[in-house]
Amino acid sequence: MPYAHITGWGMSVPSKVLTNDDISKMVDTNDEWIRERTGIRERRIADERQSSASLGAEAAIAALKVADLLPTDIDLIICATSTPEHIFPATACIIQDKIGATKAGAFDLSAACSGFIYGLTMGSQAIRAGANKNVLVIGTETLSRFIDWKDRNTCILFGDGAGAFVLQASEQAGGAYGAVMHSDGSGSDLLTIPAGGSRTPTSELTLRTGMHFIHMDGKEVFRFATRVMAGATIEAVEKSGWKLEDLSLIVPHQANQRIIDAAARSLKLPMDKFMVNLDRYGNTSTASIPIATVEAVQQGKLRPGDKVVFVGFGAGLTWGALAAEWTGPKQATRRVVKAEWFPWFAPIRSVLRRFGRLIEGIIFGRKS
Ligand SMILES: CC(C)(COP(=O)(O)OP(=O)(O)OC[C@H]1O[C@@H](n2cnc3c(N)ncnc32)[C@H](O)[C@@H]1OP(=O)(O)O)[C@@H](O)C(=O)NCCC(=O)NCCS
Repeated sequence: MPYAHITGWGMSVPSKVLTNDDISKMVDTNDEWIRERTGIRERRIADERQSSASLGAEAAIAALKVADLLPTDIDLIICATSTPEHIFPATACIIQDKIGATKAGAFDLSAACSGFIYGLTMGSQAIRAGANKNVLVIGTETLSRFIDWKDRNTCILFGDGAGAFVLQASEQAGGAYGAVMHSDGSGSDLLTIPAGGSRTPTSELTLRTGMHFIHMDGKEVFRFATRVMAGATIEAVEKSGWKLEDLSLIVPHQANQRIIDAAARSLKLPMDKFMVNLDRYGNTSTASIPIATVEAVQQGKLRPGDKVVFVGFGAGLTWGALAAEWTGPKQATRRVVKAEWFPWFAPIRSVLRRFGRLIEGIIFGRKS
C-alpha cells in the first residue's frame, strides 16, 4: 500500500493588514480586550481583486514549487473552504482552471474550519487506496466578505488567506498516518451563515436582518473547542501507534490563544510544542493550519522526520486530527518548464476552450 507524503506546502495572504486599533474605529472594542481574550493583534483582508480562488491558486503554485511538480502532474484537487466563490461551481474547479491543472479532478469540501483536516484525510486516503498519485489539498478563505463589520462578537476574530499541501504517493514509509474526523450537527446553529442556502434563500428580509453574515455563539463554540482539541490529538496519535511524547510539533487550528492554551494544559504539553501565529492572521478557517505549517517550516520548527499532529475544529460542529511524519521537500530536478509559469498560460488555454465551445455552438446549433 503506498504511503501519502506531504512534499509541498505554500501560502498566500493579502497584503492589507487590519489591526485591532483599526477595528476599534468601527465597533466598541479595543486592542487590549481583543489581545487578552483572543491573542489576535491583526489580520489580513483581501482587496476587491482577490478572492478565495485567486488566493488558493497562489498557495497551490507555491506548494507545487516546493514539491517540484507541475500543475499537470496533479490528479486530484480538494479545496476546503467556508467561503467558496459560489454555491456551485466548486472553487476547486476555478483554481484548476487558474493554475492549468488539466489532468485533475476537482471538488470542494465543506467542513468549516476542520475542512483542511478533512481534506488531508480524504487526499491521503485516496493515495493510500492507490486511486491517486499527486493530490493538492487547499484551504482558502475570504471570510471578510461574510463578516458583519458592526458585530464586535465576530469581526475581531477572522481574516483572509490560503494555504496548500501537495500529497504524493511513495513506497517509502512516512507521511500521513492516523487520522480522525468527527461531527455533531446538534450544534449546527452555534456558528452559521443562516441565509443564502436552500433552507433560507437570499431575500430582501435576509439582507435587512444580516442573515448573510457569520452568526456565532462565541461562549458555546469556545467550550466545545476546548473539549475536543486534546481528545482528537490523542486519538490520531494512538491510531498511528505513537505516544504524545513522540511529537515534535502540534499545528492547531488558529482560532483563539486561550483555546490552544487549554489544549496544551489538557495534553500536559509545553506551549513550545504548539505552532501559533494567530496573532498576525486571526482565524483564517480552513487556511489556518497550512499557513501555520508553512511558517513552522520557515522558522525551523518542523524538520524532516519530525512527528506532527494537525488538529482542528469548526462549525458543523466538526473536529478532527491527522498525524504525520514530516517528509520535507523533494530533491529539485532541473525542469525547463516551471510551475509558476502556468498561471500566465492557463488563462489563454481557458479563453481558447471557451472560444472552442462558442464555435461548436455555432456549428452544431444551440437548440437540441
Ligand atoms: C468570541 C470570544 C472571543 C468572546 O470572548 P468571551 O470571553 O467569551 O467574552 P463574552 O462573550 O463572555 O463577553 C464578555 C464581555 O465582553 C464584551 N465583549 C464581547 N466582545 C467584545 C469585544 N470585541 N470588545 C470588547 N468587549 C467585548 C461582552 O459584551 C461582555 O460584556 P458584559 O460582561 O458586559 O456582558 C470567545 O467566546 C471566543 O473566542 N469563542 C470562540 C470563537 C471561535 O473560535 N470561533 C471560531 C471557531 S472555528
